[in-house]
Amino acid sequence: MPTDAINLNRTEPHHSLTIAPPSEGFALRGRIQIPGDKSISHRALMLGALASGETQIQGLLLGEDPRSTASCFRAMGATISELNTDRVTVQGIGLGQLQEPIDFLDAGNSGTTMRLMLGLLASHPGRFFTVTGDASLRSRPMSRVIKPLQQMGAQIWYRAEGYAPLAVQGQTLQPIHYQSPIASAQVKSCILLAGLLTEGKTTVTEPALSRDHSERMLRAFGATITVDPGTCSATVTGPAQLHGQTVIVPGDISSAAFWMVAAAIVPGSDLTIENVGVNPTRTGILEVLQAMEADVTLENQREVAGEPVADVRVRYAPLKACTIAGDVIPRLIDEIPILAVAATCASGTTLIKDAEELRVKESDRLAVMAAQLTQMGASVTELPDGLEITGQTPLTGAELDSHTDHRIAMSLAIAALIATGKTTIHRAEAAAISYPDFVPTLQRACG
Ligand code: S3P
Repeated sequence: MPTDAINLNRTEPHHSLTIAPPSEGFALRGRIQIPGDKSISHRALMLGALASGETQIQGLLLGEDPRSTASCFRAMGATISELNTDRVTVQGIGLGQLQEPIDFLDAGNSGTTMRLMLGLLASHPGRFFTVTGDASLRSRPMSRVIKPLQQMGAQIWYRAEGYAPLAVQGQTLQPIHYQSPIASAQVKSCILLAGLLTEGKTTVTEPALSRDHSERMLRAFGATITVDPGTCSATVTGPAQLHGQTVIVPGDISSAAFWMVAAAIVPGSDLTIENVGVNPTRTGILEVLQAMEADVTLENQREVAGEPVADVRVRYAPLKACTIAGDVIPRLIDEIPILAVAATCASGTTLIKDAEELRVKESDRLAVMAAQLTQMGASVTELPDGLEITGQTPLTGAELDSHTDHRIAMSLAIAALIATGKTTIHRAEAAAISYPDFVPTLQRACG
């Protein structure tokens, strides 16, 4: 596929991405690298800002979301070097020392920034904070963190149903044992971060295990934290002391997922994605692709700075439908849009269930993927908590829209690679939230 077949049209404020049909024999081959893990990048910036001393971060994601985190913590006194290289230095201000910002803290598009930060703001007595975000974030539920924080004694003001903008008057909080009704790393991490400054044991129990990057990194920074995987519980003992560290951020499996599926569905592909974080709380996508009979192998498995890492090799193989439901959902929550693309190529009916959380992500990902894939000719039924997708349906190029959701933009771009006819994805600039180099990487992979 010639690289000029993929064009980004930068008409402000939105960009559209046009992908022409690949030429005969097109396949994804060789090795590619992916950007740093978004979840780990946020946490490295936050814990670095809260720690005493200096934190060095290598491999930081230079996407829009970590930039939002960095600017919020700069506004509260942390010194964070420019995010123009993936090696970033943070001069921490010490736990409990966040300064009162003189303006709104703007979390941009980032739910992780807003929810994790709220736990910290609520536990800084005597300081007042206001928090906002972009239109998408202002329509996402914050009540899931406001309620447990209120149980700890937090004072938070919000729009109806707990939407931002929010105001927080920091308090001395009380420890709780929170039984979260949802498996959410953002909820868990918010409460654990609030527990850092709270005297006693703060515990979160969730119905299924969500990503555990906070627990791993808090321990590395010196907090007293225990986990009980059997009951999906984590406990932090406060007040904690955090010390600056060197954090090496692995590649983001959620970004690797686009290339894994691309190689799995484009005949003749043989692609190795290097340095992918394979923390078991994130590897649901690998298990599902294997259940779909994709040819996926892990090479060079190793541990880097407390996180498991591997190179992931994917070779094209015909896919079979499967059911994606239950406890695996939190372990692949961000990969469901791209798995929906894979399902259009699988023989049989793929059933995605228990994924109602997707309705409150950066967009309603169930509704948006159902509508966009249907426009491409896929057979998709939207369910209250999932999708039913019957393959194999040939996809045809269409005029599509990301709905300003980064993972939708990139999933549709991969779908376009197997479509006949030209596809245009409007508002494709959203990809830069988690993958600033997505389009050049796509051009190179297809070149
Ligand atoms: C994240 C957790 C997930 C995920 C999000 C990042 C995190 O959200 O969807 O992209 O960094 O903690 P939930 O924990 O709310 O499911």
